Amino acid sequence: MRDFVHCVPTRFVFGRGAEQRAGEQVRDFGGTKALIVYGGGSAVRSGLIDRVKASLDGAGVAHVCLGGVKPNPRDTLVYEGIDLARREGVDFILAVGGGSVIDTGKAVAHGVCYDGDFWDLWCGRAKSVRALPVGVVLTMAAAGSESSNSCVITQESTKTKRGLRSELNRPRFAIMNPELAMTLPPYQIASGATDILAHIMERYFTCEKEVDLTDRLCEGAMVAVIRAARIAVKHPDDYDAQAQLMWGSTIAHNDTVGVGRVQDFGSHQIEHELSALYDVAHGAGLAVVFPAWMRYHMDKDVMRFAQFAVRVYGCEMNFEHPEQTALRGIEAHEAFLRDIGMPLTLKEIGARAEDIPALAAHTKVTNPDGTTGGVFHMTREDIENILRLADR
Ligand code: NZQ
Ligand code: ZN
Repeated sequence: MRDFVHCVPTRFVFGRGAEQRAGEQVRDFGGTKALIVYGGGSAVRSGLIDRVKASLDGAGVAHVCLGGVKPNPRDTLVYEGIDLARREGVDFILAVGGGSVIDTGKAVAHGVCYDGDFWDLWCGRAKSVRALPVGVVLTMAAAGSESSNSCVITQESTKTKRGLRSELNRPRFAIMNPELAMTLPPYQIASGATDILAHIMERYFTCEKEVDLTDRLCEGAMVAVIRAARIAVKHPDDYDAQAQLMWGSTIAHNDTVGVGRVQDFGSHQIEHELSALYDVAHGAGLAVVFPAWMRYHMDKDVMRFAQFAVRVYGCEMNFEHPEQTALRGIEAHEAFLRDIGMPLTLKEIGARAEDIPALAAHTKVTNPDGTTGGVFHMTREDIENILRLADR
């Protein structure tokens, strides 16, 4: 196991009616005037925004609103949010929604404290050293932004989707009421579950040896998330299934299951190109990319892929031909994704084969040698090959 420092300062307030405690939480963390950030309407229609405002009023916290966050959130609304927050003298950001809303809130939090163009921080021209505190009322189990150190924004003019990793991104608190997720359409529940699994798998497929404890945590979490996802897409009002997914979302991406391991995240970088160009749900894009990535790389560590097949999907181990076991695991994962209604091919998400070279060329480089991915270092050619595997 590698050395690590792990600090998740987020306070989790989990359970039915938890959103009524939003005001108390903002006040606890020193907020006196909050910017409430929300999405395209679901949180207004469900009455959640009104309940959150009432809670802030009850705690004596003033508030202004920034609505209209779109999935795959754009820089344009972040600029609006920064202006509004400055004008109104906001000292706390309260994001009420899923990953896109939370990430917009986080980006505003950095931007308010930075003198230049906030995109400087996302494209590596400058380093963020200060951000306003952020709190979350989570409405969707997926991105894990409610306690992750990440924030992903798309520059609309160039269709460039990039993440900023910073410990400043960890929210102060996350209010998590699984009932709030019951209004989600099954497709979004499935996309969310796919993203949760992908966050675990990006950590699970490691080259690090002697990581049995985190292997087992990953495997247990994957088994539970797969089971809960199957239930929740059919019965969105199943509290227990939504509860497993919500906590799964959080532990999958705040590194509880990933400490001490080399992590990959190459599939995520490839997917970000798909959701930037075609505006597809992030989880759906991952359903297309991840199995292709697994098929492409499994020969490089066949025993780990076979272990995944046996322990997560209950496949029988073929000791003479472990590659057969590894393949069964990938097929089982694809069958699961199909069952919950996810796409598996580029065509199903409207992606064009002729775009593959440009998608590969635009994918973020994450290693000094010009490659992408922490475990399996991929050249542009590797990325093209993976996308061609998904072009079925
Ligand atoms: O805008 P509204 O009307 O609220 O509708 C949203 C949106 O259309 C809807 N929704 C959310 N909660 C709902 C609901 N509809 C009904 N009832 C509810 N309770 O769901 C749709 C998708 O929302 P979005 O926030 O986009 O989903 P998700 O949580 O999957 O976030 C995706 C974004 O997060 C990024 C992704 O790249 C993508 O941009 N990620 C962020 C990460 C992070 N910050 O740590 C890590 C991830 O890997 C990911 O990259
Ligand atoms: Zn993700």
